[in-house]
Amino acid sequence: MTDERFPSLTLLEHPLIEHKLGLIRDRTTRPALFRQLLREVALLMGYALTRDLALETRQVETPMAPTRVRCLVGPVTLVSILRAGLGMAEALRELLPGAQEGHIGLYRDQESHEPREYYVKLPDEPGRVLLVDPMLATGGSAVHAVRVLLARGVAAEEIRFLCLIAAPEGVERFAEAFPGIPILAAALDSHLDERAYIVPGLGDAGDRQFGTEQPDPPA
Ligand code: PRP
Ligand code: URA
Repeated sequence: MTDERFPSLTLLEHPLIEHKLGLIRDRTTRPALFRQLLREVALLMGYALTRDLALETRQVETPMAPTRVRCLVGPVTLVSILRAGLGMAEALRELLPGAQEGHIGLYRDQESHEPREYYVKLPDEPGRVLLVDPMLATGGSAVHAVRVLLARGVAAEEIRFLCLIAAPEGVERFAEAFPGIPILAAALDSHLDERAYIVPGLGDAGDRQFGTEQPDPPA
């Protein structure tokens, strides 16, 4: 599904994605199940994310006869925005075991909500880049990550951005900066709160994956 406000955004609608996303959003879902569900949703979304990968024709022999087959060609790189992108990249690695991997480490400044970069490691020839992060909130992190890729010589046409939940504010910022880079998401939520968290969202994706969230205060 597309949203007329955001031509570069595709919302991937599927009953399994919706069901699993509902469980992911549930605040009582603990980190082990959260990671499993995130992996499963990323696998389902990976089908759409990879649908325009380049193919070449090769000749093979089946046990019965020679035939022409279509095989992936050219490098593909999975780039996780740390930390929360790791769980999605894990799933995509299963779909693309031959892919290279890169990492861009960012955290949001608590006051300004702008990204702070602490780590970048990318392959020399990334080819097609599948950039992953579950949350597109203000859009600062995703925009920063794309700028890092462009500065390393990756062409904008080679980049696809996959997230789980997007906020309108983040999609607008990303699409304004990079109108030609497709965004794939499972949900477009309502808005950001005063701390720039997505509402209804799922809370802090990194904390919920890795169990670093603060427990609820006693009632
Ligand atoms: C989260 C999330 C994104 C970013 C999105 O990371 O994984 O990277 O926030 O917010 P934005 O669109 O407003 O930039 P966070 O900064 O919490 O770091 P973490 O993954 O290490 O927890
Ligand atoms: N980062 C998150 O993990 N969650 C949000 O809602 C916003 C930014």
